[in-house]
Amino acid sequence: MAHQSFYPGRLQDQVIIVTGGQKGIGRGIAERLALESARVVVTGRDEAAGRETVECIRDELEASGSCVFIRADNAEPDDIRRAVSATLGEHGRIDGLVNNAATMERETILTTRPELLEKVLRINLVGAVEYSRLVLEHMLERGKGRVVNIGSTHAWSGLSDLFPYSLSKGALLTLTHHIARNYASQGIRANWVTVGWVKTPGEIEVWARQGKDAAWIDGKAREVVPFGRLQTPEEVGAAVAFLFSSDADQITDTELDVTGGLRM
Ligand SMILES: NC(=O)c1ccc[n+]([C@@H]2O[C@H](COP(=O)([O-])OP(=O)(O)OC[C@H]3O[C@@H](n4cnc5c(N)ncnc54)[C@H](O)[C@@H]3O)[C@@H](O)[C@H]2O)c1
Repeated sequence: MAHQSFYPGRLQDQVIIVTGGQKGIGRGIAERLALESARVVVTGRDEAAGRETVECIRDELEASGSCVFIRADNAEPDDIRRAVSATLGEHGRIDGLVNNAATMERETILTTRPELLEKVLRINLVGAVEYSRLVLEHMLERGKGRVVNIGSTHAWSGLSDLFPYSLSKGALLTLTHHIARNYASQGIRANWVTVGWVKTPGEIEVWARQGKDAAWIDGKAREVVPFGRLQTPEEVGAAVAFLFSSDADQITDTELDVTGGLRM
């Protein structure tokens, strides 16, 4: 991945967990945070992909910043507890959390069975709540902490065939507001990044199921995105890095749009 410009040292020594950081947007975020000298902990389900990702990120780091992988399924509270306590054990503190892991099943309300809804909410929402709860307990003791939730235009779009996913993102936005409002006076900042459209492995897989290839995604983006192209994981990573930096010290409860104008 190629990050246009970044600020080595800006996130010096911040310990930040990135859920689902082993590929796609999460990987772009993890990479950018590490390049800006954060100590990044990538969590995810796939051990091999996670290890490969952290190796690649480590290869790019010159002086400061680090990246490790901890296997943790967002649908498993025990995994999440283990990941948070291993991070505290290794680094002694947690400065930030990026709730990025998500699954994107395409179903309408009419085809969404309770089992599927429970699965999507468990990964995209309950997992994010559990990570937030555990890191908050620790951050409140320290009087300092930052949470960034990775959101989507579908929190508002009402698009018919992304029903369970959209529901999870709407609730994730509520989680953002809840943390921001209730813990601001105790040094916690919580923000949301609205991602527009990024050609990630997950997105390619979703469209492939409907017979559309990666070239189709590019063509469609030229048509529908006001800036005429998809966003990249690096561009989302840049927005997230800003929110963790001291440049954003007075920013909480914001919905930062990284959509190329898609939400206008
Ligand atoms: N790609 C887009 O166009 C787009 C648009 C808006 C928002 N987003 C959001 O960006 C984030 C990343 O999406 P992406 O496009 O990179 O998708 P992706 O499928 O390529 O990556 C999703 C990540 O979540 C992880 N994940 C999935 N289920 C998990 C589980 N049970 N436990 C732990 N990790 C799990 C995957 O392993 C992967 O690392 C998501 O929150 C998604 O909603 C993406």
